Amino acid sequence: MFTNILVPFDGSSTAERALRLAIGMAGQEHAKLTLFYVLNENVAMGDMQMAPPSLYRSHLEGLRRRGNEVLEQARIIASSAGVEPRLILCETAVRRAAEAICEEATKGYDVVVIGTHGRRGLQKLVLGSDAEAVSRTCIIPVILVPGASTSALASSYDTSTQTLPSPQEAEPLILPPARPDHGMLLSKALKLRCSTRIFDARPLQPQALSDLLWSAFGVNRANGDRTAPYWRHVMAIDIYVATAEGTWVYEPGEHRLLPWGKEDIRASTGTQDFVGVAPVNLIYVAHGERMMELSKEERRLYASVDAAFIGQNVYLFCASEGLGCVFRGALDATALGRLLRLPEGQFVTFAQTVGFAPA
Ligand SMILES: Cc1cc2nc3c(=O)[nH]c(=O)nc-3n(C[C@H](O)[C@H](O)[C@H](O)COP(=O)(O)O)c2cc1C
Repeated sequence: MFTNILVPFDGSSTAERALRLAIGMAGQEHAKLTLFYVLNENVAMGDMQMAPPSLYRSHLEGLRRRGNEVLEQARIIASSAGVEPRLILCETAVRRAAEAICEEATKGYDVVVIGTHGRRGLQKLVLGSDAEAVSRTCIIPVILVPGASTSALASSYDTSTQTLPSPQEAEPLILPPARPDHGMLLSKALKLRCSTRIFDARPLQPQALSDLLWSAFGVNRANGDRTAPYWRHVMAIDIYVATAEGTWVYEPGEHRLLPWGKEDIRASTGTQDFVGVAPVNLIYVAHGERMMELSKEERRLYASVDAAFIGQNVYLFCASEGLGCVFRGALDATALGRLLRLPEGQFVTFAQTVGFAPA
């Protein structure tokens, strides 16, 4: 029935629901699928209109990069379901997103599939009430896909506004006890596991951080062993926890956070823009000096494997709890190691961003 489907996509969880519906339709009917991201310069730049031209240009460039990342994330979702979409980043200075979408819809499509609650507030990008305007003014059929609190990305942690305190000099923060019996069936979590690269700034409450870190690399046996395997019983990985309030180091034995510093170093933990927005970036730091009889290359290899096991625990925890995350190698490990003031022998392996998907 449909041969050419248009999906306006802004990266919100509701847009993702619309996308998944459209992927199903495209797959069944061998239809073409186009993903459409609207960057409205006037809306998105807000106060930046007054900024010096060079700053304005670099901010706009950042928004374009973000738009392309959002589209790329959608492309990965579609490709993994066997549908190769066309991607369009539509820049406009004057038109509302709804106008841009309806104009695109005149170009040979036969249906628009759109989520009804997009991002608002600071991000000010596209959908939201625009979906309603699209349904009123578009010349082709429009399928509205409502947001739902039962979305795969809805989280039980979402309701709390409690945040972490700032790290104080030499004051460890005892985390609330982790809840190992929390969460969904492993098979369901495996089904939902994926990388996400769009986050909003809502903080992770202490209970969420406690459950996250315990799942990542907490103690799960009386002998002190952990939820992830590690090379030859050498505790080679420390998890640094970079938040807006400051940076901590996880101490699994006492299930507590040791203060590292009050600085917000999130933006320095990777090369992608979202790392400075998401509430938590975990940095997996290896104690190379403890892996004694190994060559430098072997230390990197084994430490990376240790970090990857932790990373998969984090992926599954996030899938189970409706959080987003992505394991990351796109970082400047040397600069980050210097920033973290790592002693001789220690090095940064990978990082992992964790947070809420935009509502
Ligand atoms: C070793 C490794 C490094 C990665 N580095 C990055 C990265 O720097 N940035 C990023 O966005 N994703 C990164 N990823 C995530 C992959 O892109 C992602 O897992 C892959 O596209 C498959 O998607 P999925 O996780 O949703 O299944 C990395 C994954 C691995 C295993």
